[in-house]
Amino acid sequence: MNTKEIDRLAREWLLEAGAIIKQEVAECKYQISEKTGPSDLVTSVDKKIEKFFAKKIAEFFPTHQLVAEEDDAHKFSTFKGVTWILDPIDGTLNFVQQQANYAISLGIFEENHGQLAYVFDVERGSVYSCIVGEGVFVDNVKVERLRVDPSLEESLLIMNFGIIASNYLNLADAGRRARAVRLYGVASLEMMAVIVGQADGYISRSLMPWDIAAGYIMAKELNLEVTRIDGSEINVLETGSLMIASKEVHQTLSTDYIKKTEIN
Ligand code: IPD
Ligand code: CA
Ligand code: CA
Repeated sequence: MNTKEIDRLAREWLLEAGAIIKQEVAECKYQISEKTGPSDLVTSVDKKIEKFFAKKIAEFFPTHQLVAEEDDAHKFSTFKGVTWILDPIDGTLNFVQQQANYAISLGIFEENHGQLAYVFDVERGSVYSCIVGEGVFVDNVKVERLRVDPSLEESLLIMNFGIIASNYLNLADAGRRARAVRLYGVASLEMMAVIVGQADGYISRSLMPWDIAAGYIMAKELNLEVTRIDGSEINVLETGSLMIASKEVHQTLSTDYIKKTEIN
């Protein structure tokens, strides 16, 4: 695979896609619809961005497969050749309510090996990127994590509201033991907070391939722990839980909380 050429085009397309989103926000004519309920939204912008990438990939890389959220034609359950995994807008609810705190998330795999990853925080204009083997960058500045391996007591955790509200696997208790808990509502940027060291762990009960693909590649690149909640390996094309954290935090969450509770 021609990594440099894919990187050049992926960056170009991300910036173009970001400009399309900003234009849509400025015109304020996009349609919002509910998928499974009032908190599960999709907009005409999500669909437009997915179509934009699908067209570009088909034109430049006709043999590559695209896995993406909105179109049933973009669903594959196995890796074959080069696979692009795209969330055209991650954090759609934030996009609708706040016009901020959303991102385009893109991970590119050769067979099942992550090779390139991008998360574009469109409102802030920040691009998180990674070519595997070269490190992780934010706007072309190499990431050096703030706190390398803190204890749980020194850590900042990110968890979904559902986990906190039900004290799932006693993880709300773990949150009390941590320095603080935050909640952003956008999985890709929550993973990026751990990637850059603004947070030390992020836990979610259920995420889709396009939510985690980019963050998973970057976490592996930085030697962070990235597993299902029960500690098992992740197959990025399957839906499931996520626990990304620095080593000691991952270990403490696992041994002091998760493994002491029956997983349901
Ligand atoms: C959602 C966001 C949210 C996470 C949900 C995802 P979407 O993605 O990342 O933070 O908790 O599980 O589905 O639907 O806005 O692309
Ligand atoms: Ca998403
Ligand atoms: Ca989405």
